[in-house]
This record gives sequence, structure tokens and C-alpha cells, in this order.
Amino acid sequence: MKYNIGVLISGDGSNLNAIINNGINVKFVVSNNQNARGLLIAKKNNIPVYTFKNLLILEAEVSKLILHYNTELLVLAGFMKILSRKFIHSLPHNSIINLHPSLLPAFQGKNAIIQALDYGVKYTGITIHYVDEGIDTGMIIDQKILSINKDDTFNTLQARIKIIEHNLYPLTIKRLLDKKRN
Ligand code: GRF
Repeated sequence: MKYNIGVLISGDGSNLNAIINNGINVKFVVSNNQNARGLLIAKKNNIPVYTFKNLLILEAEVSKLILHYNTELLVLAGFMKILSRKFIHSLPHNSIINLHPSLLPAFQGKNAIIQALDYGVKYTGITIHYVDEGIDTGMIIDQKILSINKDDTFNTLQARIKIIEHNLYPLTIKRLLDKKRN
């Protein structure tokens, strides 16, 4: 089938949901957090789910899952752990991507939305990038800009960020996989 991917999550899984709803074939979902709400979304869609608390074990099992399901891309969708250099280098070049809720390189790391609000920037956005050994430092694949309103709170801004994430992430995944084929 077209667009075979594996997804790593830690939380709500709204982007996982958008990916599934866009016809991308998610072969497995792995989480470091057994209470991640996104696991329920995967289960509802009959996607095999796995949880591993320990990062080294998680990485070793994800490597096996990639081989087993023959997935083409590993997609991080709200995965809150930092993958090891060894794991990243064990996979083909540019085969892991991440989604970050700011216009990188601004506001890397955790709490990017709060960082942007605290700094008082007038614009923020989202970034899709390849994963390298750094934190949110890999090559940028695509970005989308968003203006911050005077009365924005974390909740209102996060809601608007998620709307553009849910559009751009699935499109970008399809575009990357189409490109691999041609
Ligand atoms: C997204 O906002 C993404 O940018 C960040 O984590 C959030 C995950 O949200 N990396 P969800 O779990 O997909 O709802």
C-alpha cells in the first residue's frame, strides 16, 4: 500500500489522527507514555500500538518494527523524547521527521508556544524538519506562518497552530514519500 509510515507519539495524537484521516497507512504507533491519548486513536483504527518507557528499548523495538512493517518514514508527532545519535544514524539518511510548533530556529525545545507568547513576537508558526542529533535543529522541510493576536492565550494560539499542523503535516508526508518514489 502507498505511504507506509511508523509514528511515535507521547500525548494527544491529534496529528496522528490527521495523518490517518488523510489516507496515510500508519503501520505502527509507538509511545514512551502508556497513558498517551493518541494510543486510543491508533487502537480505534486497528493500528498496532506499542509502549516502551525506556528510550533504549523503545529505539531497539522501533528498529525492529521498521524492518518488520517495511515502513519508509518514521514520523514524530508530539513525541517528547530525544532520540539517540546511534539510533538516528542507524536509519537511512533523512528518514525521520518531526513537527515543531514555532518557526525554527526560533523557540526550539519544550514549550515553544509559551516561549513565543512570552517573547512577544507578532508572528509564529510551525516547522516540519528532518531529525538530526540536535534538538529541533535538523534541515527544514516546510514551514507555515501564523500571526499572534493581542488577546491570544496559550489555548487559543495552540488551537490555531494545531489546525495548520493537521493540514500541513499529512500533505508533507505524502509529498516526501511521492518524491522518494519518483
Ligand atoms: C504538536 O503541536 C507538535 O507541534 C508538537 O507536539 C504537539 C503534538 O500534538 N511537537 P498532538 O499530540 O499531535 O495533538
